[in-house]
Amino acid sequence: MLKIKPVALDRLPKLLRLMPKAELHMHIEGSLEPELMFALAQRNGVSMAYADVESLRRAYVFDNLQDFLDIYHAGTLVLRTEQDFYDMAHAYLARAAADNVVHAEIFFDTQTHTGHGLSTEVVINGLHRACVAGEAEFGISASLILCFLRHLSEKEAFESLEQALPLRDKLLGVGLASSEKGHPPEKFARVFARARDLGFRLVAHAGEEGPPAYIWSALDVLKVERIDHGVQAINDPTLMAHLAKERIPLTVCPLSNLKLRVFPALAEHNLGRMMEAGIVATINSDDPAYFGGHINQNFTQTFAALGLGAQQAYQLARNSFEASFIDDSLRHQYIDRLNAAFETFD
Ligand code: HPA
Ligand code: ZN
Repeated sequence: MLKIKPVALDRLPKLLRLMPKAELHMHIEGSLEPELMFALAQRNGVSMAYADVESLRRAYVFDNLQDFLDIYHAGTLVLRTEQDFYDMAHAYLARAAADNVVHAEIFFDTQTHTGHGLSTEVVINGLHRACVAGEAEFGISASLILCFLRHLSEKEAFESLEQALPLRDKLLGVGLASSEKGHPPEKFARVFARARDLGFRLVAHAGEEGPPAYIWSALDVLKVERIDHGVQAINDPTLMAHLAKERIPLTVCPLSNLKLRVFPALAEHNLGRMMEAGIVATINSDDPAYFGGHINQNFTQTFAALGLGAQQAYQLARNSFEASFIDDSLRHQYIDRLNAAFETFD
């Protein structure tokens, strides 16, 4: 492992910004900024419940995950055409590249949109086209993870998987998102087994608001390779030891956790403790348009609140590449770039 020199506090934001990193936990629908939302509403003749961008932004105050999901769902009503999905994902990739994200594994769902009368093809083709453009324009590698909505039935998850299969080569994996409490991972045992047989990479949200038992069943029943959030693992020492020993990555989203009141303040976030316990944690933005920041704001605010430094910055960026589903040759290229960024920083 590279020897990391300490960096003065006032220079840390620059280092956090310029280090290359991967983003592994963001929902593309949660990247839709109010400005683009209003533009798409106008383009598609969809009426908005808010008069303007400012009043919409003012509504982004949440008590918990469900509170957020309700507003988030309303925002997706402006998405009507393949071009809308392209524009949304292209805007995210441009913004992520500015934060020196060099690789992104992007969550999306089809169930929200098929529920609004759109086809699975419109969603996946628009997003995939943006991923291809993102590579050409910004040099960012990007791939797509189809999330099942856990408040719906397993039968409906199966339907969304089957509808996506003709576009299989545009997808990297499947995940599990939406209302966690009352919808344990094991509800989706069979659809994850089927996705696994089809060669999809597997992830699931677990232990965001829900108990450590949900993290165990995501691992043992769904056989996921990463846990999204996972911060409730701290309440189960056996689980903590297991995550560390097996090097199961957690995709942590600090500003999301703050905005959804998983922690009362960023200074009380357990990311630092997780890292000290040897867990492969990463920092991500989750829904950047709703939670007050893209990935670098997650880094800088969390580092300031927890007093983290250059060593943790390197570790988190490195973890993001170790935890990603890229092939080893690209992984080594990105880690070499990361090492070079740290070696030349002064
Ligand atoms: N948790 C669960 N589902 C979600 C989230 C989240 O943080 N963001 C978008 N869908
Ligand atoms: Zn999420």
